[in-house]
Amino acid sequence: MFLKTEVLFLVLVLITTTTTITVTTAINPDSTLSFNQTWSSPSAIFSLALVSVQPPTTPPSYTASIVFSAASFTVWSAGNGASVDSGGSLQFLRNGALRLVNGSGATMWDSGTADRGATSATVEDSGNLVISNGTGTLWSSFENPTDTLLPSQNFTVGMSLKSQSYSFGLSSIGNLTLKWNNSIEYWTQGLNSSVNVSLFSPVLALSSIGQLQLSDANLSSSVLVAYSSDYDRNADVFRVLKLDNDGNLRIYSFSWEGGASTVRWTAVQDQCEVYAYCGNYGVCSYNDSSSSPVCECPSENFEMIDPNDARKGCRRKVSLSSCQGSTTMLTLDNAVILTYPNDPTWQSFYQGLSACRSNCLSGTGACFASTSLSDGSGQCVMKSEDFVSVYQSHLLPSTSYVKVCPPLAPNPPPSLGETGREKRSKVPAWVVVVIVLGTILGLVALEGGFWLWCCRNSTRFGGLSAHYALLEYASGAPVQFSYKELQQATKGFKEKLGAGGFGAVYRGTLVNKTVVAVKQLEGIEQGEKQFRMEVATISSTHHLNLVRLIGFCSEGRHRLLVYEFMKNGSLDDFLFITEQHSEKLLNWGYRYNIALGTARGITYLHEECRDCIVHCDIKPENILLDENYVAKVSDFGLAKLINPKDHRHRTLTSVRGTRGYLAPEWLANLPITSKSDVYSYGMVLLEIVSGRRNFDVSEETNRKKFSIWAYEEFERGNMSGILDKRLADQEVNMEQVRRAIQASFWCIQEHPSQRPTMSRVLQMLEGVTEIEKPPAPKSVMEGAVSGTSTYLSSNASAFSPFAASPPDPSSSSSVQTSGVSTFTSGVKSEKPTSILLQSDT
Ligand SMILES: *[C@@H]1O[C@H](CO)[C@@H](O)[C@H](O)[C@H]1NC(C)=O
Ligand SMILES: *[C@@H]1O[C@H](CO)[C@@H](O)[C@H](O)[C@H]1NC(C)=O
Ligand SMILES: *[C@@H]1O[C@H](CO)[C@@H](O)[C@H](O)[C@H]1NC(C)=O
Ligand SMILES: *[C@@H]1O[C@H](CO)[C@@H](O)[C@H](O)[C@H]1NC(C)=O
Ligand SMILES: *[C@@H]1O[C@H](CO)[C@@H](O)[C@H](O)[C@H]1NC(C)=O
Ligand SMILES: *[C@@H]1O[C@H](CO)[C@@H](O)[C@H](O)[C@H]1NC(C)=O
Ligand SMILES: *[C@@H]1O[C@H](CO)[C@@H](O)[C@H](O)[C@H]1NC(C)=O
Ligand SMILES: *[C@@H]1O[C@H](CO)[C@@H](O)[C@H](O)[C@H]1NC(C)=O
Ligand SMILES: *[C@@H]1O[C@H](CO)[C@@H](O)[C@H](O)[C@H]1NC(C)=O
Ligand SMILES: *[C@@H]1O[C@H](CO)[C@@H](O)[C@H](O)[C@H]1NC(C)=O
Repeated sequence: MFLKTEVLFLVLVLITTTTTITVTTAINPDSTLSFNQTWSSPSAIFSLALVSVQPPTTPPSYTASIVFSAASFTVWSAGNGASVDSGGSLQFLRNGALRLVNGSGATMWDSGTADRGATSATVEDSGNLVISNGTGTLWSSFENPTDTLLPSQNFTVGMSLKSQSYSFGLSSIGNLTLKWNNSIEYWTQGLNSSVNVSLFSPVLALSSIGQLQLSDANLSSSVLVAYSSDYDRNADVFRVLKLDNDGNLRIYSFSWEGGASTVRWTAVQDQCEVYAYCGNYGVCSYNDSSSSPVCECPSENFEMIDPNDARKGCRRKVSLSSCQGSTTMLTLDNAVILTYPNDPTWQSFYQGLSACRSNCLSGTGACFASTSLSDGSGQCVMKSEDFVSVYQSHLLPSTSYVKVCPPLAPNPPPSLGETGREKRSKVPAWVVVVIVLGTILGLVALEGGFWLWCCRNSTRFGGLSAHYALLEYASGAPVQFSYKELQQATKGFKEKLGAGGFGAVYRGTLVNKTVVAVKQLEGIEQGEKQFRMEVATISSTHHLNLVRLIGFCSEGRHRLLVYEFMKNGSLDDFLFITEQHSEKLLNWGYRYNIALGTARGITYLHEECRDCIVHCDIKPENILLDENYVAKVSDFGLAKLINPKDHRHRTLTSVRGTRGYLAPEWLANLPITSKSDVYSYGMVLLEIVSGRRNFDVSEETNRKKFSIWAYEEFERGNMSGILDKRLADQEVNMEQVRRAIQASFWCIQEHPSQRPTMSRVLQMLEGVTEIEKPPAPKSVMEGAVSGTSTYLSSNASAFSPFAASPPDPSSSSSVQTSGVSTFTSGVKSEKPTSILLQSDT
């Protein structure tokens, strides 16, 4: 072991010394490198040779390549992969040109250094092939890269790494970009936004310890762009940056002693997001059994261009122009047509599912395919060029349409794969008979086995039948994960993101590289079937301001939910921050948008979605922020999973929410309706304005709860006293602040019927309705509780505990009368206003 390290050290010393002393093994003009020969660097780390093309061709062909000897890894090729037959050679001519010549004598590539006084060609230990005139460099492979960047190689603006139709480049503002066909930019990464200088002439390099760094005359020090994951192991690892022919950019690590390479960084996390990975009309998807993507044609209306290479893409069997009759649209569930911002061949519109299909079908101007995005944005994207790259996955709720000639010929279900059916059509009939008989017998045996298994272990059987149910799920259905899969995705529940009222949340990465938040539910009192029904309801609820449920796990006692991951965490992190994290302070514009977004999300839950949901636990911890600080309400639909259906069995211990946000009816054991969420939202709104917890008590608030103190300040007309002091030196729209404060006091009215509905709150915030002055939110709490018995008995039947506020006007008015008569003075004197009466009907 010691010996090995020492040898390694010696080798390294040798490398460093040789590069400085430059022991050149120069090649003189009039030399020829032919098949079976190599030109090596001084320490033989790299060598130039004719290497056979992979995968091998018939007849064999070769490229002139620089190879990292220890791992036989090609780092450069003459003419970017130009190949010659076995009679070909690389010639360093007497006139100084380096030339790749085919056996037939044809020139395949030329360095362009003829008659410029070249005296030698050298392969250096850095991997650079240099043609020099004795004093200066005339040409070098480092300045003419193919698909790989080596440590100590400088990559500048104007250079590119190329691999098939893909290219990697550096823009003058310092962005790294990946493009397809030199036009569609499917990935870009810029400098850290804290770097605020315009660059002069940026240079990208891979440092020997595996950091991609950008340097520039205008930068005081170089800026790190990406790390390879093993960057802490420096000396014993050799790394390269390579643009692979799948369009992805990766950092590979090798041991100096050789052996296989390891990927340590990947630019595009989700391979299916690489434009045209599956070629034209190819559908990229992930197959359960492997993590690399699979390419298929959208339907049997298409055929593969090359049946041996699915990545070449597909073509229509009948072209659109020779259609008998009019064209039609093929529907692809859970699929999107890839679009990137700089692609001029697509347009996006605000229109729904059926319009998205029919407008593409009948549209004036060309439309070849469209996608209705189900991300809550309500957008439809149309592609006006006959080149379409599709990504299909259970995780994508969107639906796509592709224009084809009728009749529609959908692909057979996955169990009868394309290749399987083709093979079968070529085998003799008796084999088919044997296979069919064998299958039937096998199935009978299998079924018998299932019954035995079922009797022995009923939960496992349940899991299995659930998998079959998954095949029948309609589009947008949640994905079922096994507990083991989630254990792997979260690396054994290692990285805890937080602990909510329903259980701990962990960060995880799915097989297709999607980052997710995995919630381990605790205290589930429900059976398997009920759980699945609730999961189906939750996952069918899509809105821009709701966190999306991707999937679930229900195995034995384990109940887990898999959500999309929200980069910026929860709102409380931004509202109640200490001085030292003041960079997290959100300005008023962001806060106002978060308040609106949250209100929209809750409105959707209450009023717009199919199975209306009362959240029951609205608080800043359950409002998450995505990378653009768009508010997303999380944990909706969970209350129903945890709490018993009958509200009369509800005890204070089963109340998971934080006390400060619970409507009084929770504590008084009154029916819970959507108005309880309105109360909680009002408290959150007040906190968004003030940056203070509503139940904070301090000297400043005269030893009163902040929400009570705030109303007193409001009565005095002191709006800016309620506003977060840390926003004092910023520009704040005081009209918006006034609306938010007034709306919040309406929301936190003690009596549910006095609170507006969520859609009314939204109108108040947006300034669509004028807001009347809210009455004091809190009467004497104790009095209200003591007077509850009549209220409860007379109205309990009108409310289902988890249904949205009843639309039936008679029931709400009965609440109101009984409420007004039962509750004590404070409420009675301040009669509900016209707005509220309207909103209740
Ligand atoms: C090249 O190597 C092959 C076997 O690997 C050998 O048969 C052939 O003679 C060699 N050719 C030259 C020119 O050395
Ligand atoms: C190279 O030479 C072989 C035969 O010597 C010939 O078949 C092939 O077409 C040539 N390639 C090119 C690109 O000229
Ligand atoms: C060698 O090339 C460099 C750069 O191209 C040039 O400046 C220099 O004059 C050349 N030297 C000779 C001896 O030709
Ligand atoms: C790369 O650039 C640095 C300075 O920017 C320079 O010192 C170094 O010699 C360059 N490397 C090569 C191989 O040109
Ligand atoms: C690729 O680019 C070329 C030239 O930029 C263009 O003519 C061609 O239409 C492009 N191909 C596709 C499929 O977009
Ligand atoms: C540069 O990259 C950043 C992402 O890191 C992106 O937001 C920005 O739009 C890019 N700029 C250009 C001109 O592509
Ligand atoms: C940007 O740079 C700052 C300071 O150098 C660093 O704290 C921050 O983490 C960087 N952000 C990213 C996204 O790399
Ligand atoms: C960047 O610097 C310019 C002037 O140097 C300044 O006006 C601008 O606000 C700065 N931007 C950021 C994001 O710091
Ligand atoms: C950076 O370089 C550009 C181009 O020379 C120059 O215009 C600019 O003023 C320089 N400095 C900064 C801080 O951007
Ligand atoms: C998944 O991939 C494996 C191996 O690549 C293949 O044998 C299997 O048929 C594929 N399954 C589907 C459904 O495509």
